[in-house]
Amino acid sequence: MRKKIISMTMALVLGLSLTACGDSGSSSGGNSASSGSSGGGDVSSSDNSGASSEQEPASGNVENKDKPLVWFNRQPSNSSTGELDQAALNFNDNTYYVGFDANQGAELQGTMIKDYIEANIDKIDRNGDGIIGYVLAIGDIGHNDSIARTRGVRKALGTGVEKNGDINSDPVGTNADGSSSVVQDGKLKIGGKEYTVRELASQEMKNSAGATWDAATAGNAIGTWSSSFGKDIDIVASNNDGMGMSMFNAWSKDQKVPTFGYDANSDAVAAIADGYGGTISQHADVQAYLTLRVLRNALDGIDIDTGIGTADEAGNVLSDDVYVYREEERSYYALNVAVTADNYKDFTDSTKVYEPVSNQLDEGSHASKKVWLNIYNASDNFLSSTYQPLLQNYDDLLNLDVDYIGGDGQTESNITNRLGNPGQYDAFAINMVKTDNAASYMALLNQ
Ligand code: BGC
Ligand code: CA
Repeated sequence: MRKKIISMTMALVLGLSLTACGDSGSSSGGNSASSGSSGGGDVSSSDNSGASSEQEPASGNVENKDKPLVWFNRQPSNSSTGELDQAALNFNDNTYYVGFDANQGAELQGTMIKDYIEANIDKIDRNGDGIIGYVLAIGDIGHNDSIARTRGVRKALGTGVEKNGDINSDPVGTNADGSSSVVQDGKLKIGGKEYTVRELASQEMKNSAGATWDAATAGNAIGTWSSSFGKDIDIVASNNDGMGMSMFNAWSKDQKVPTFGYDANSDAVAAIADGYGGTISQHADVQAYLTLRVLRNALDGIDIDTGIGTADEAGNVLSDDVYVYREEERSYYALNVAVTADNYKDFTDSTKVYEPVSNQLDEGSHASKKVWLNIYNASDNFLSSTYQPLLQNYDDLLNLDVDYIGGDGQTESNITNRLGNPGQYDAFAINMVKTDNAASYMALLNQ
């Protein structure tokens, strides 16, 4: 199946690169899943552009616009409509996105919470009024992953209402009396009895300086919510663990109110022993690997699937139960796993490399290359405590010399200013502040 897609793609590559020769910004439709730009039939990059062959160093004679580029964690897309930014995803023949399957993960998160309610129905309704109340911390209302998670929770609990053909993902503010039109009261029938489920409150956790997914803001919000309707809160849900743990530590741990997050950061997994309800692993160990591996393959000018769907010479390979590749989106998506009291002991170290892809590449055939990589917010819990440590473990295994740039989570220019000298690097990995802003990076690489 995959083979077939690959060979169809090869034909497409030939056709497209012949017609769009020289215009890397638009030349790539859906090409080169199968090859680095110097391999296969990529005519437009056969001489001085695209990735280097093994003999010639990538730096020096490769133009920045032709160097491998991977967007990760924040997918180039319109922050109001969610529509993917195809120009950014197809910046050149060696451009990809690496993230995780947001809908599959969101569904898991919603189901995990619903399962918890069902299994603990005898004690979940703390004030015994027949209403199971929850509050929800929203990360970033313009981020597809955050939107998916809000929808996943509302869908599983029956609290979602439709808007433009999908579940409304807007924050409710407060809804203690159930009158909001953004959500509805859900109904759950458990053990022959019908319960109402109510989203009592939700808000985007954005601080005054503009940083989203802000853990401190969530810690403050639970303080406000609990002082006005604390007895009604039976469950705390969060778009991520950073905010979830902040609420847990500030309030729900003492109150023994189950709190659910996302990311499976080490501290959140450990907290499951103390009553944190559960989290979702987005397989950051697979994502961090893919982020650097696609760059490595493109730089080596070898089939992009090497060490991914196809074992490399060191034995690295991923099985298809941990990721999917969608060619038309130029995107690799890791698959998610629920982490609960049943299995959390298998997830205690979120920075551990994934065993099937932990073999060192030989420096003789994979010479060291320089990569520029940024983390949009150096204080983001997930990116700083899970993702970056993983990247730092893989960069050695893949012989990549990575410069890690940490942003402030608010200003794109704080990051783009530090991409002043792209000529010094062989490849780029970008984590944007705002998913609409790919053009500002592309402009720098196009100069
Ligand atoms: C993570 C969040 C993180 C965000 C940053 C998401 O995938 O779940 O914890 O804040 O990425 O972009
Ligand atoms: Ca109640």
